[in-house]
Amino acid sequence: MENMKWWQKTLVYQVYPKSFADTTGSGTGDIRGILGKLDYLESLGIGAVWLTPVYPSPMVDNGYDIADYCSLDPAYGTMEDMEELIHEAKSHGIRIVMDLVYNHSSDQHPWFQESCRSRDNEKSDWYIWRDAKPDGTPPTNWRGIFGGSAWTWCKARRQYYLHTFASQQPDLNWENPKVRRALYNAANFWLEKGVGGFRIDAITYIKKPTEFLDGKPDAADGTVSIHDMTANTEGILEFLHEFRREVFDGHDIFTVAEANGVSPEELKDWVGEDGAFDMLFEFSHMNLQFPEGEIWCKEHPWKLTALKKALSDSQRATAQNGWYPIFFENHDQPRCVNQFFPQGGDRVLAAKAMAAVLLTLRGTPFVYEGQELGMSNVAWESMDCYDDISSHGQYALALQEGFSAEDALSFVHTYSRDNARTPMQWTAEKNAGFTTGTPWLPVHGDFAICNAETEGEDPDSVLNWYRKLSAWRQGKETLLCGSYEELLPEREDLYAFSRRLGTEEVYTIVNFSLHEVELPDIIPRGAKRVFGNYAEEKAGVLRGQEAVIYVVR
Ligand code: NOJ
Repeated sequence: MENMKWWQKTLVYQVYPKSFADTTGSGTGDIRGILGKLDYLESLGIGAVWLTPVYPSPMVDNGYDIADYCSLDPAYGTMEDMEELIHEAKSHGIRIVMDLVYNHSSDQHPWFQESCRSRDNEKSDWYIWRDAKPDGTPPTNWRGIFGGSAWTWCKARRQYYLHTFASQQPDLNWENPKVRRALYNAANFWLEKGVGGFRIDAITYIKKPTEFLDGKPDAADGTVSIHDMTANTEGILEFLHEFRREVFDGHDIFTVAEANGVSPEELKDWVGEDGAFDMLFEFSHMNLQFPEGEIWCKEHPWKLTALKKALSDSQRATAQNGWYPIFFENHDQPRCVNQFFPQGGDRVLAAKAMAAVLLTLRGTPFVYEGQELGMSNVAWESMDCYDDISSHGQYALALQEGFSAEDALSFVHTYSRDNARTPMQWTAEKNAGFTTGTPWLPVHGDFAICNAETEGEDPDSVLNWYRKLSAWRQGKETLLCGSYEELLPEREDLYAFSRRLGTEEVYTIVNFSLHEVELPDIIPRGAKRVFGNYAEEKAGVLRGQEAVIYVVR
């Protein structure tokens, strides 16, 4: 415990600034909105806030297309607002964590503007340029993650440039030391401002293979996902270690990298003493329905045993190397009450059950805005209501694969990133108290009951469950650093595990089914039931979606 770092003993809260709190009536959240909610965040026991990108951006991908790494988008506020936020948050015991989007920039970034002008300018090799195939088609059959070719033609250079994501997000050429230096300088700029760490976007894609070859098609149009061709390419670790040396080393901060495609077995090269980062967001527990890649229309049913195995593998791997960032939501994922209880049931029970797991596993829990209220998915009737660029790409892909418009829309309902991006629900008033203007994305229809103010007054709300569990976790060494053991791994309805430190044990059991089952005989005699998501205990059974936590000494 004494050797633990500050960020291992706290909770991180993810703010999606566009949807968090609007102080100007523009319909878009802003930095001053976050400043006004610091007391709220403190009440949840939050020690760090990860801000998704707030830099100048044309917002093709809501800020993940950055046009300047060292200033703020005027829609969010000024650099003075940001400095005030960093400073004020600190006085609430909260550090601000910035998002570094270094695989690509916006096509509006001056670097790209220059790069695409000619083949021999100063920045001509800051991005990834290739000639067309002899017939004029793109250099390879790679499909970008948002759909469509991963290559876009540039008339001025008469060449294609590569983009892992949208065509407005050209990939930077990490092979060029000047590019790497410019990126490190930008991160150091934020360290000088006093930030508490970084979340690093899409990092597994920065290294490209030496040869660019066609891959085996995985879609009807003959394309293959770029993920399968470029993720985690050999040699990437050299870049990452340089990144660590040039930026992170010697600072009391944490780094968490988004690393789709790194398995728990590979973890030791990526995190911990000898790794490049402190933590990795890996997605084995989030992508269970996409065992062959994330094409929404190619979903598979998943089993609870698979979820448990993914979580347990990560718990075991991070007991050896690095540290685990526990998460069930972020701005790219559906809401966890829908994702992990696809059979429906009660939203409040589901939200509390997921919180019980989140806050008793080993690692640093990440709470995504609104998760602490039990916010849930939306299901809008038309694609016109959806803003998310990826939802539109996946919808088109589903149609192309032969699905009906109705089916394609149902995939969007289940997986759209807009599920997580609807405005934060603060009050039961107009627009859920998010804005006095017109919200950039519609507010979820359940805001009259699911909002911070109403829930704050209800001792049994999801919000107060989070507050209680968070406060309890913070004072409990067994949860902060005790060992993890999975129990009953073969059960398809229950997730049960224990945490142990010295003579103390904490048991968490969640019934993921909607029906009542017998309470398994795994809790030692004398154990005390300290939390339960049903008001009253019912001896000997676990009701549908019931979550219980016991402690024994
Ligand atoms: C991952 C981010 O979380 C997502 O929102 C974004 O669209 C892509 N990376 C591209 O930056």
